[in-house]
Amino acid sequence: MSFDVVAVRRQFPILSEIIDGQPVHYLDNGASAQTPEAVLDAVRTYETTQRANVLRGVHRLAERATEAYETARAEVACFLGVPEMEVVFTGGCTAAINLVAYSYGSLLKPGDRILVSELEHHSNIVPWQMLRQRAGIELDFAPVTVDGRIDLDALPRLLTPRTKLVSLAHVSNVTGSLVDVRAVVTLARTVGAKVMLDGAQRAPHGPLDIPALDIDFYVFAGHKAYGPNGIGALWAKPALLEAMPPFHGGGSMIGRVTKAETTWAPPPRRFEAGTPPIGPAIGLGAACKWMRGLDWTGAHAHEMALVERLMGGLQKIDGAQLFGPASLQNRYPVVSFMLDGVHPHDVAQTLDSFGVAVRAGHHCAQPLMDRFDLDGTTRVSIAPYNDNADIDALLTGVQHAARTLR
Ligand SMILES: Cc1ncc(COP(=O)(O)O)c(C=O)c1O
Repeated sequence: MSFDVVAVRRQFPILSEIIDGQPVHYLDNGASAQTPEAVLDAVRTYETTQRANVLRGVHRLAERATEAYETARAEVACFLGVPEMEVVFTGGCTAAINLVAYSYGSLLKPGDRILVSELEHHSNIVPWQMLRQRAGIELDFAPVTVDGRIDLDALPRLLTPRTKLVSLAHVSNVTGSLVDVRAVVTLARTVGAKVMLDGAQRAPHGPLDIPALDIDFYVFAGHKAYGPNGIGALWAKPALLEAMPPFHGGGSMIGRVTKAETTWAPPPRRFEAGTPPIGPAIGLGAACKWMRGLDWTGAHAHEMALVERLMGGLQKIDGAQLFGPASLQNRYPVVSFMLDGVHPHDVAQTLDSFGVAVRAGHHCAQPLMDRFDLDGTTRVSIAPYNDNADIDALLTGVQHAARTLR
């Protein structure tokens, strides 16, 4: 049976909104995806029938809240294919990377090296630069090929016995390219380096089998994966979590506090200081459950058919230039393009007048823009609920921009 996009769309109330007389053609999923009823219901259930703080209370509402929060952790763990005690709730993907940069980073010594790439989101660059300033580590950048992939051929010369961590985007938020994890892990292990994947753009496209990837850290954001804002998750190998000191201090992350000193709670609690974002965590659990219930073989084929329609359509528009892998192999449904002589923001504004939402600019990937000497691109990022009408509206808008703005 083919993928039933109409049934999927029905689960997302916002997709039937009419704004200024136009339907919503939402193609900015890489920035934030939309939220299905299942997630909205889970958050509402918490707020209306379970709302209390977690872990601290002995009353029944507190017990309900704690159970819902821990069930959400189990749902995230199931989505990643890992034990639940290895999942830490964070404030988002950026927060998760900062946690690793601070806590794992505090175990590193001056002169130790971290390898990222030129196509990383700023979230996977700036925390390491801050660590460099704090701790005297060195930061190396793997180059990017002309078709917007991390150039793995350069890794052997960049990896040294001082390289402690290789931290790369699982999927690029600009070009949609999927990194070859097996090759990265094999190369990293030759020098004993750990591997972290920034899964912000991969997690929204279906469940993962983290143990099969044989990596050390994985991070992703809730709001890009059909969940609420202000929540994300970090997975790390248990021995690493055990060795890492806390990031933030406060309630919940302690074993025992005296005036003289404090002992730490075991992970994951050690890394969840203070009252966590309980409703958002429950929403993320529901989003992971919702994603596990989707037919991803069908959804992925559907998404890539939309990419094909989009790329084919853009190639026919005078002045439109695709940026990123030309093939559909090893890529996810994120497509960047430029329109000769037109600023990406003007393209996006024109598209907005056609009811089409996209992202334009540097996409928090300025080193990548520098590498290609670009001001920015217009980025189309697709989710399973997008359909041909979304792509066709976008192509009509780009044709209009090409006719009127060039
Ligand atoms: C690849 C990648 N990493 C990290 C982030 C940061 O995510 P957040 O802003 O949700 O923390 C993003 C957001 O666009 C991203 O695309």
